[in-house]
Amino acid sequence: MSNYKRTLVTCALPYANGPVHIGHLAGVYVPADIYVRYLRAQGKDVLFICGSDEHGVPITIKAKKEGVTPQDIVDRYHNIIKKSFAGLRINFDIYSRTSSDIHSKTASDFFRKLYDEGKFIEKESEQYYDEEAKTFLADRYIVGTCPRCGAEGAYGDQCEKCGATLSPEELINPHSALSGGALVKKKTKHWYLPLNQYEDWLREWILDGHKEWKSNVYGQCKSWLDGGLQPRAVSRDLEWGVPVPVEGAEGKVLYVWFDAPIGYISNTKELLPEDWEKWWKDPETKLVHFIGKDNIVFHCIVFPSMLKAHGGYILPENVPANEFLNLEGDKISTSRNWAVWLNEYLEQFPGQEDVLRYVLCANAPETKDNDFTWKDFQQRNNSELVAIFGNFVNRAVVLTHKYFEGKVPAASQLQDIDREALEQIPALKESIGRNIETYHFREALKDAMQIARIGNKYISDTEPWKVAKTDLARTATILNVSLQICADLAIAFDPFTPFSCEKLRHILNVEALQWEKLGSTEILQTGHSLGEAQLLFAKVEDSVIEAQTARLEKIKAERLAAEEAKKPDVAPQKDECSFEQFEAMDIRTATVLEAERVPKTDKLLKLTIDTGIDRRVIVSGIAQYYSPEEMVGKQICILANLAPRVIRGIESKGMILMARQEDGKMRYITPAEALCNGAQIG
Ligand code: 2FM
Ligand code: ZN
Repeated sequence: MSNYKRTLVTCALPYANGPVHIGHLAGVYVPADIYVRYLRAQGKDVLFICGSDEHGVPITIKAKKEGVTPQDIVDRYHNIIKKSFAGLRINFDIYSRTSSDIHSKTASDFFRKLYDEGKFIEKESEQYYDEEAKTFLADRYIVGTCPRCGAEGAYGDQCEKCGATLSPEELINPHSALSGGALVKKKTKHWYLPLNQYEDWLREWILDGHKEWKSNVYGQCKSWLDGGLQPRAVSRDLEWGVPVPVEGAEGKVLYVWFDAPIGYISNTKELLPEDWEKWWKDPETKLVHFIGKDNIVFHCIVFPSMLKAHGGYILPENVPANEFLNLEGDKISTSRNWAVWLNEYLEQFPGQEDVLRYVLCANAPETKDNDFTWKDFQQRNNSELVAIFGNFVNRAVVLTHKYFEGKVPAASQLQDIDREALEQIPALKESIGRNIETYHFREALKDAMQIARIGNKYISDTEPWKVAKTDLARTATILNVSLQICADLAIAFDPFTPFSCEKLRHILNVEALQWEKLGSTEILQTGHSLGEAQLLFAKVEDSVIEAQTARLEKIKAERLAAEEAKKPDVAPQKDECSFEQFEAMDIRTATVLEAERVPKTDKLLKLTIDTGIDRRVIVSGIAQYYSPEEMVGKQICILANLAPRVIRGIESKGMILMARQEDGKMRYITPAEALCNGAQIG
């Protein structure tokens, strides 16, 4: 880290098709903001870049559903997202957007350079086409039944219900989400980045050169590389996006994952039109991408290959991707409204922004998926922020006002207990720094809280309120030490909880403090006047948590009811039967030997079957579903002891077991593996 002159920090550009939620925050934005604040407290030169990702198919689908333009959608969410980041003090140097002109030009030029230099492969392929809507369909526009979980409305790239990654070919009954109609395949031309040509270079750069990357990131890269890379299409047949800047490419745009990362560059350019290159082209700049795990391949494999193909750019020094945060045990989902939205949180919890920052960092899914629960939120606030950090600061400040008119009292002879408290802090400072620099934010936060624990224990052990009755000089020393620890907290917590640290600086009546001061025993001079005492944190009451969990329960109940309503109509359960009645039925396996239509009927087949006990004829109403040829040789299940009946002059002895599907189709029941005929079922 020390060899770099400056650090460029980027955060994944959120899609402007919904507000930001706690999963985004815990995975990407809170850790990145902590990192940037920490570097800035050290006086480092840092640039913090983000913006909205405003292209891609989901945005166009949403627009269509609402009967508005994609631009309307991204305008709406861009503003919500931008405002809510500011509300949580995720302070980007610029939060711009990929529908801007400067982005369009930057992405277009980037593509054109690669195109002119022959870095792409041009290929025709067959893609799904909607003849009614007269358009090619992206995988997202193709819907059908999920082959894995049976959910309706699964997309051609993913089932939102079970999370399976799919291809349109795998969907059952695939059809167009646009027109609802059937699909045909049609030829279309696209440009591909031949990632396979970058494989050796990527192996060396990542697998040999970046063994220090987080194991989840390194592991994912390794498995992509070991699996062998394929050329990736960088264009799409779509109206919404950056047009492909090539003649004859009408109706084609850059693939959203080609233009989005270029957004980091265009946003830097927009902020620093004269000076942006030093941030992107000077090897003395350290580039760090904060992202979620679903973005790893794009930031570690695709974007670096694009930068390499282009030439002249630096590459990321690290990509500290996090795993996912769940909410109350369930996957967070924008489309299912299963989330805690940042804009709503800010409205509902004014003045408690830091609680969310604290809880999300303490619970960040750094190495594995993690769960956010409102109970944990309350618990961490009440028993950590309020009971330890807030309580300690309040005791030290209130006592100073009470006994020393709010002025920092002089420390005379330090005793062992004083020294022991103070001496632990430099090591914790070290550890916080090391942990932040290596992207272990949870550990860093624990270290910071340890300073508050030390302070809280120190003031409880030394009991200055009791000592004051007999020894004011000793009380002065204890409060001096306590106030120095309060100042340490104002520094140590600043990257994590900037709102409360600002409040704490008011309480201590100090300006922003540089990181280097942390651990020094004289941050506050003797005689320095404190500000007014006020509580740093407020308790979160049970009623608040109950309201939040009730909201989620309602959403869940509504979802389950909707799923229930969508379920196919199945016949209601019949009246109870006794075990004896069940046992009376002789159900067994059999094989169809011969099959023919019953003349002058549409529905009936005459089947000659081997029941294991005999050879007999069953007349069955299945001719609509099976031809005679299809039935011959099939193993089936029969009710053997049904009283014989004469149907169309043929004596039928028994019945074939059939299941009726939702669509009315009948299917015969066959054993999972071939059995002997006559095997009894029951
Ligand atoms: O996954 C996402 O939310 C994407 N919009 C992230 C894009 S990151 C970058 F490449 F812009
Ligand atoms: Zn599924």
